[in-house]
Amino acid sequence: MNEIVSKEEIAPDTFRYEIRHPKIAKKRRAGQFVIIRSHEGGERVPLTLVGSDPDAGTVTLIFQAVGHSTKELAQLEVGDALMDMAGPLGQPTHIENYGTACVIGGGYGTAPVLPIAAALADAGNDLIGIIGARSKDLLILEKELGDICAELKVATDDGSYGHHGFVTDVLKDLIDGGREVKFVLAVGPTPMMRAVANLTREYDIPCMVSLNPLMIDGTGMCGGCRVEVGGETKFACVDGPEFDAHQVNFDLLMKRQATYKAEEAEAGHWGSHCKIGLPKDK
Ligand code: NAD
Ligand code: FES
Repeated sequence: MNEIVSKEEIAPDTFRYEIRHPKIAKKRRAGQFVIIRSHEGGERVPLTLVGSDPDAGTVTLIFQAVGHSTKELAQLEVGDALMDMAGPLGQPTHIENYGTACVIGGGYGTAPVLPIAAALADAGNDLIGIIGARSKDLLILEKELGDICAELKVATDDGSYGHHGFVTDVLKDLIDGGREVKFVLAVGPTPMMRAVANLTREYDIPCMVSLNPLMIDGTGMCGGCRVEVGGETKFACVDGPEFDAHQVNFDLLMKRQATYKAEEAEAGHWGSHCKIGLPKDK
């Protein structure tokens, strides 16, 4: 169980693992995630379930090696096993046929978009995909999303590939060009999701975003992942991670995401999301 059966670096420091876990492979649905620990005492890391092969009993995870724990995870090789993997967690994405739907992925936030895009396409949506990255080499899953979406548009911040600018520019151009987009789902950095929320609000287009607040237990017990949606407190791990973008308090989310910035900088290589698993002196 939890054995890594394949490993691929799909962009600099961004890895795709296939991991053996027959139960999760059978149960998972689009939008759900797992919490993993790579070793005893390791930090708990939430990662979206990007896909699964129920026959082979494997799940697909994609992550960027940005903090101590994800760098540790990236050191594991085929044949190694994760210490544990809890899931599937969170609410599956609500899927229906909206007519024309648009999925937007920013940076490695594009990974969670893949299973949702597949489910929306299966439901009969005419699907437009927009993916963005800082530069061409950081772009992920272009081929996979291109196979699913009727139309796939690309943006890079530096103009090295596709539209020179943000994913929101591409969405705005689409809508201004007369495309009747009936639903948008966006996953990526919080400023991007806020920008997509503001844009879709302006055009009165329903929009969902997948939030990534600090998470610890992933079961609704610790309160670490609390977010404000429509003036109410919600726990992203059990009530989400997807919420109505127009109802999310992004200012509060960003403030809470910055809570441990100073400690993270001070601790240097120590983990990115929570303090569980740190040595006692940290
Ligand atoms: P990044 O900062 O390189 O941005 C990726 C793209 O997002 C940019 O190319 C641009 O098109 C768009 N973008 C960024 N800021 C924008 C703004 N202000 N307005 C409009 N568009 C903007 O992304 P990264 O460094 O690869 O980080 C990916 C992010 O995705 C991380 O913050 C991570 O936490 C998040 N993520 C979220 C989930 C989830 O489930 N919610 C999962 C994985 C990753
Ligand atoms: Fe603890 Fe959600 S991670 S309540």
